[in-house]
Amino acid sequence: AGTAAAGLVALPLSACEAQNSLFSADGAGANPLAIPELNQGIVEQGERVFRLSISAGQKEFVPGVVSPTIGINAPYLGPTLEMRRGERVRLHVDNGLDDGATVHWHGFELPAAADGGPHQLIRPGARWSPSFEVRQRASLYWYHSHLHRGTGPQVYAGLAAPIYVRDDEEDALDLPSEYGVDDIPLIVQDRVLDNSGKLLYPQNMHAQMMGVRGDRLYVNGTQNAVFDARTGQLRLRILNGSNARFYDFSLSGGQTMELIASDGGLLDRPHAVRSLRLAPGERAQILVDLSEGRPLSLLATSPDNSMGMMGNGGGMMGGGMMGRRRDDARTDEPFRILDIRPSGSSPRRNLPPQLAALPALDPSLAVRTRRFVLDMGMMGGGMSINGASMDMNVINERVPVGQWEIWEIANASMMAHPFHIHNVQFRVIDRDGHAPPPLETGFKDTVIVNPREQVRVLLRFEEHSDPDTPYMYHCHILEHEDAGMMGQFVVVNS
Ligand code: C2O
Ligand code: CU
Ligand code: CU
Repeated sequence: AGTAAAGLVALPLSACEAQNSLFSADGAGANPLAIPELNQGIVEQGERVFRLSISAGQKEFVPGVVSPTIGINAPYLGPTLEMRRGERVRLHVDNGLDDGATVHWHGFELPAAADGGPHQLIRPGARWSPSFEVRQRASLYWYHSHLHRGTGPQVYAGLAAPIYVRDDEEDALDLPSEYGVDDIPLIVQDRVLDNSGKLLYPQNMHAQMMGVRGDRLYVNGTQNAVFDARTGQLRLRILNGSNARFYDFSLSGGQTMELIASDGGLLDRPHAVRSLRLAPGERAQILVDLSEGRPLSLLATSPDNSMGMMGNGGGMMGGGMMGRRRDDARTDEPFRILDIRPSGSSPRRNLPPQLAALPALDPSLAVRTRRFVLDMGMMGGGMSINGASMDMNVINERVPVGQWEIWEIANASMMAHPFHIHNVQFRVIDRDGHAPPPLETGFKDTVIVNPREQVRVLLRFEEHSDPDTPYMYHCHILEHEDAGMMGQFVVVNS
């Protein structure tokens, strides 16, 4: 009831911004941020035991329109598993789907048979019960499908969730750590809906080449999310759980955020940053100050990770040929993905000046260098590493246990790729000879390699040799992984 102008004024700001950007927001208003249930398992006979059941579910991505999904102990996504460094865990994973599935523990060092990669297929109706010691430093990790040639659609449907590892070193720092109160996981994902509002997994050539990118953004499955904060400081653990989209995160008003952790745990010290880029698979933890009691938003922009290759700006497959596509939205307009509403002002909390004592990064420890060249072939028809596409029957590398190596990852394509290595947390030495940004000064398991760039990482597989069961290294753009930008290695006795 009213004029067009009145209607505009009544629109929530996020909807106005959405009209300026390529992203869309369905339904006006704000939705309370969904927080995944915390699952601490049950300690039985010296092991912490988790029971996970994968099943088909349903979710309304748009109010009133039901889409089929996959979830773990939930209709969509799954519980946050909480573990402690040094303990043994066992996970009973039941596959209630009509399809095979796998569950991979991303970021963990563990025996290859427990890794949950494509070789650990769980058939429909079957149970898989891996067990391993938690060797990881405290951080945010995650678990997700790693089905051979089917990871993209399963993760997209919801087969993914966070893991928190805690340890004494981090506990001693007194960082915000009350789950769901001042310590919040944020799984950031984009989705495409069809005209009726149903979840759509595009499978056209464009989506195969660029990866599936949606024009709707969700945090923990919530669109236009709002979080009511009860504390003056929040710890946000951000996981880019998207299939293909990169994000630059920032805070409204240009406020700085304190970056405290990368994939594999705390950095040596907090870094005040204004923007933070995460590619699929990468995580970061930030502390946000709310002591003044002012509302704040977490914003995301979507950088072009393809050098205009298929964008609207006359790249090699410019707008003329492909047209503007809904599933290729990218924008320099910041889009609000989470509104934070503090309850009032509170005393400012000081940051510890030092976070963790990281071992010195010493590339001279390396006894050999391996080189990996990522390529996409013509029109994405040859997703490959070192000229070969993933073959389940080929072991590409044999890596001696306990030896330091430099892995040199080069990108021969026109698009950035997040390179992920299983069973290790590595250190980034340099990018084209230049020192890495703050996020890459700590431990990482996934690293962006920009077009024509070369990134060097230092790593060592500390244990778990098994000549017969491979681990994977791959691009974490899931459609690239599914199309073969992946290789296999075994860790062998030296
Ligand atoms: Cu997050 Cu091999 O995967
Ligand atoms: Cu992994
Ligand atoms: Cu890729």
